Amino acid sequence: MKKNILLGVCGGVAAYKSAELVRLLQREGFEVRVMMTAAAARFVGPLTFQALSGHPVATNLLDADQESAMGHIRLARWPDQILIAPATAHFMARIAHGLADDILSAVCLAARVPIRLAPAMNTAMWLNPATQSNRQVLESRGIRLLGPGQGELACGESGEGRMLDPDEIIDRLRETFQTGPLQGQSALVTAGPTREPLDPVRFISNRSSGKMGYALAEALRSAGASVTLVSGPVALPAPPGVELIRVETALQMRDAVMARISQAPPGLFVACAAVADYRPEHAASGKIKKTDANMTLSLTRNPDILTEVAALPPGSRPFCVGFAAETEDIRRLGEEKRRCKGVDLLAANLVGGPQGGFEDNNNALTLLWADGQAELPMMPKRELAAALVSFIEERFFACNPSS
Ligand SMILES: Cc1cc2nc3c(=O)[nH]c(=O)nc-3n(C[C@H](O)[C@H](O)[C@H](O)COP(=O)(O)O)c2cc1C
Repeated sequence: MKKNILLGVCGGVAAYKSAELVRLLQREGFEVRVMMTAAAARFVGPLTFQALSGHPVATNLLDADQESAMGHIRLARWPDQILIAPATAHFMARIAHGLADDILSAVCLAARVPIRLAPAMNTAMWLNPATQSNRQVLESRGIRLLGPGQGELACGESGEGRMLDPDEIIDRLRETFQTGPLQGQSALVTAGPTREPLDPVRFISNRSSGKMGYALAEALRSAGASVTLVSGPVALPAPPGVELIRVETALQMRDAVMARISQAPPGLFVACAAVADYRPEHAASGKIKKTDANMTLSLTRNPDILTEVAALPPGSRPFCVGFAAETEDIRRLGEEKRRCKGVDLLAANLVGGPQGGFEDNNNALTLLWADGQAELPMMPKRELAAALVSFIEERFFACNPSS
């Protein structure tokens, strides 16, 4: 079931960051409603938040229309938690003293759910004994503060008082966000290509963009899993709420995966990376010089990470999902790969054609498991990832009924 979060926005420059926060909260699977102080509405228009959240924005405690649409007590009963971001010094003072003279403070006073604040203010305001004393009062009443962080402030000064970036706020809220069917499960995902060096400036690689693996990491996160993503070099931002380990070569990817499994075996392993099958036998220490002669490269096999993980003994072997990129006959070749690698679920896709596969934003998958198969038709990779995660959940719980 969707969880409700009520986002309160106060009047500081950081209010513009809260628009992004609405989007990220929705991506985490939350239903979001927004309330704003009068000062906040001078910084960012309520219309922005109304458009993003899809709900009217509460701005005025004493407005008859707003009160009859969803009164402040009903608004206080709606969320599963309240997040105030940015929280001004003035707002912290108001709730520390139990004031209720605007919609945010009245709702917070009437709420019975956890309240979290992401303060944002000038360093001197933050360090002022009045604010520090309010902070202590709030924390002693169970109100949790997220940040503030250090850094450059809107006023041009630098120091403590910066509102955490929206993705940092999401990370801090993670433990209370653990909702969804994979709640309590951990997932290890690999994504992107690997680069196999020939010399310090050249490498062998492939066309994998990492889009599918990153979308899968995000979809697994949204399904409640705590996700670690081991990624080859890609031009994608870290997915929110996901631990990202960056690697370059197949050997580094293997080491990162096996180290993570030996530290804390995950429940799920999703091998989406296009790991190079071969690497140059010798990587030259200096740049290889051009000559008139042709050149022959000698390649050596890289380890097969998926096969290695799938062969782990029970207890440390996760539920294994593999990908197969083929240019033809994907069902037969995918089935061969599934058996040979011993994976629980194999997602085969066609690559090298005009549509789908590497680099494209869309893809289609043929899913194969021991006693079944299914087709996921061509669709955007984010939607495909969500559909695949539903399948993974189904197969994972079929194989691990006690989980
Ligand atoms: C340009 C500008 C930026 C401001 N930024 C902040 C800020 O980052 N943090 C803060 O606590 N107050 C800030 N203030 C002061 C608040 O807007 C002011 O205290 C206001 O009364 C807060 O109202 P609210 O708590 O009801 O939103 C700023 C004021 C101005 C004019």
